[in-house]
Amino acid sequence: MTDRYAVVGNPVSHSLSPRIHARFAAATRQDISYGKLQAPTSGFAAAAERFFADGGCGLNVTLPFKTEAWRWVASHDEAAGIAGAVNTVVLQGGATQGCNTDGSGLVADLAGNLGWPLGDARVLLLGAGGAAQGVVLPLAKAGAALTIANRTRQKAEHLAERLDAFATIHACGLDEVGGGWDLIVNATSASVGGNVVPLVPQAVAGARCYDMFYALEGATAFCRWARTHGALAAADGLGMLVEQAADAFALWRGVRPSTVGVVDALRRGDCRAAANQP
Ligand code: ATR
Repeated sequence: MTDRYAVVGNPVSHSLSPRIHARFAAATRQDISYGKLQAPTSGFAAAAERFFADGGCGLNVTLPFKTEAWRWVASHDEAAGIAGAVNTVVLQGGATQGCNTDGSGLVADLAGNLGWPLGDARVLLLGAGGAAQGVVLPLAKAGAALTIANRTRQKAEHLAERLDAFATIHACGLDEVGGGWDLIVNATSASVGGNVVPLVPQAVAGARCYDMFYALEGATAFCRWARTHGALAAADGLGMLVEQAADAFALWRGVRPSTVGVVDALRRGDCRAAANQP
């Protein structure tokens, strides 16, 4: 029987995950379907419960449910437990386990695909919400010297304090950020509202800039802004999306699909659309 998976979020209609997982399934000859599940903003738990009660085998979780999913699952793997955010739910002996592959996906794209060094790099992470929480520790473990900057400074401080046992992380407000960075990672949701993170232009001058959001065509507002103000390079988060999906697929199916060529295929629009979408 075909095993069912889905991504749950709100909104979720734009999600590329069904196309990515359909491609992975074809490449690894796994018999799965992967759909989109739009839950009402206060309805994550009900939607997830129904999905698993109906025989679903695993979920990806996207905005705005990553922290709610963390509270909902029966247990966590190490990455999710520390992050306080879940992007992948697996079934283990019938019970739900929350995992987080966002951090490993980001590091794989930065260090593996882009070849941007992280060891001893001065890294500025913008944002302190669910998206940022998932990637802080993997970045620190990859050797980055991390500063978290957030519009609400207190949230950055709390996040840094929470991870104090694992890594020394600095925290500040966006309005305190100066220059001198090797890498800047945008994990704020500013672009969702059509805004660019309010940063002084000298912050991005000479730095590599990575936007965890993506634009299939053209560039994200953050990438455009960074290039305009002298960034060494700018990349969006499509590679991260593909890498975190490959890690989720591996957790579910025990085989990690190759990600080579997937980003290019998505940009060309020739990734096979998923069958059996709900
Ligand atoms: P997510 O799960 O995407 O991280 P979130 O938990 O709501 O969503 O967090 C959104 C993040 O983007 C926060 O760090 C938020 O800053 P605040 O903590 O000050 O709210 C940041 N953010 C959202 N809109 C922003 C904007 N226009 N400028 C700067 N930061 C913004």
